[in-house]
Amino acid sequence: MRPDQLIPDRDDAPPVPEIAWLQGRGYLDAIEGELKSGKEATVYLGRTRVGLAAVKVFRDLAVRSFKNDGRYRAGRYIGDARTERAIARRSAAGKRAQALLWAAHEYAMLWRLTAAGVNVPEPLVGPDVSDIAQAGEVVLMRFVGDETGPAPRLCDLRLPPAEARRAFDDAVRALAAMWHAGVVHADYSTYNLLWWHGCVVVIDLPQAVEVAHREARELLARDASSLCATFRPHGVEAAPEEVLRMVIAG
Ligand SMILES: Nc1ncnc2c1ncn2[C@@H]1O[C@H](COP(=O)(O)OP(=O)(O)O)[C@@H](O)[C@H]1O
Ligand SMILES: [Mg+2]
Repeated sequence: MRPDQLIPDRDDAPPVPEIAWLQGRGYLDAIEGELKSGKEATVYLGRTRVGLAAVKVFRDLAVRSFKNDGRYRAGRYIGDARTERAIARRSAAGKRAQALLWAAHEYAMLWRLTAAGVNVPEPLVGPDVSDIAQAGEVVLMRFVGDETGPAPRLCDLRLPPAEARRAFDDAVRALAAMWHAGVVHADYSTYNLLWWHGCVVVIDLPQAVEVAHREARELLARDASSLCATFRPHGVEAAPEEVLRMVIAG
C-alpha cells in the first residue's frame, strides 16, 4: 500500500492496550497506519502472519453517535444494572462498556456469517470468547484489498450499468443469506458494501440484530429500502418491496 493512502500525521498505533495484547498473542505483527476514521470507529491497516488485516478500534471519539444504540441493543441481555445505567447515561465507564459490547457483537456476527458462507471479512480473533474479551474494543479481521489499497465501497464507485446490476443482485443475495442465517444487518447500504474482484463484501456489523429482535422485520425492510436508494445513483431501479419479498423467500 502506498504510504499516501494511509492518513499521515497521526500516531501509527492506536492508543489502546489491546493492541499490545494482540501483538503479544501473535495475532498481530504491526500497525502500518490509519486507514479510515469513521463515525464510530477508526480502522487501521495491520500486518499479521496470515496477511493484511483491518484493525477496527471502537474509540470513544467525541463525535461518536453510537447509532441510536438503544434500538439495536433491545433484547441483548446485560446482566448488570449498573452497566446498563452507565451506558444509558453515556458516562465514561458506560462508553467503554458500550465499545466492548459493540466489538464483541461484531465478532459474533462475523463468525456467524462466515460460518453461514456470507461474504464478510473473516474474523481473526475467536471464536473463543475469552480471546474476544481480551481483544476488548478492537476488531481484528481480514483486510479486503491488497498491497495497492483497500477495496472501494460501492458508494464511492461509478460502475457501468451491467456491473452495477451484478453488484446489486449480489447485495440482495447477501441480504437474503444473512436473513436466513438469522441476522439483519440494520445499516445496509452501499456505504457498508465493498466491491472486490466482482463480489460484494459486507462490512460494519456492530448494530446487526437477530431475527428474534422485536423490530427485525422493520429493520430488514429499512435495509431493503436503503439498499435500493443507494443503488439508484448507479442507475439500478428496484422496488424495496420486491427486494424484501425475494429476501424472505430466500
Ligand atoms: N475488513 C476491511 N477491509 C478493508 N477496509 C475496511 C474493512 N473494514 C472496514 N474498512 C474500511 O473502513 C471504513 C469504516 O469501517 P466500518 O466497519 O464501516 O465502520 P464505521 O462506518 O462504523 O466507521 C469502511 O467504510 C471501509 O472503507
Ligand atoms: Mg460503515
